[in-house]
Amino acid sequence: AAHCSWENRKEVQEIWHSVWGSQFAGRRVAVAKAVFQDLFNRDPDAKALFTRVNVDDMDSPEFEAHCLRVTNGLDTVIGLLDDATVLNEQLGHLHTQHEQREGVTAEHFAIFARSMAGALDQVAPCFNHRAWDDCFQVISDGIAHDL
Ligand code: HEM
Repeated sequence: AAHCSWENRKEVQEIWHSVWGSQFAGRRVAVAKAVFQDLFNRDPDAKALFTRVNVDDMDSPEFEAHCLRVTNGLDTVIGLLDDATVLNEQLGHLHTQHEQREGVTAEHFAIFARSMAGALDQVAPCFNHRAWDDCFQVISDGIAHDL
């Protein structure tokens, strides 16, 4: 079972900070797009879930805004890893939002985890896979364990 130890939380927060520091304003969208592109390469059928946000043109403002909602959502939960009570409340909220989207599954989150780790590995100076996987598991379990 995932535990996301104190050391791993610190590593994940540091990795996250190094990637999204405010000096890289445009980077969130670019990295998120690369993550979604990798997800669609691994699971082409998943693309249809994002029709409403104009996934057919990933450079469109609709899809870029979607990318920002997801990365901001991740930013929030990574910042909350040290506060279990509020973290669980926020994960519960994200769970409800994803449950309402017909067709989203826990398997999608497992693929997303791999796509995200691959992207961070390329942009974070010293990416620690074990720390990331350990803490991301807590996040994806909280959002998608029963989807
Ligand atoms: C929408 C976060 C992973 C499918 C959203 C929204 C957020 C979010 C904040 C916007 C909710 C709203 O405003 O109503 C996250 C986070 C993820 C994650 C933090 C990873 C930890 C995934 C994965 C899938 C997925 C793996 C499926 C492949 C969707 C869909 C929408 C959505 C279909 C609705 C798009 C629309 O507006 O039509 N997500 N998401 N998400 N997410 Fe995720």
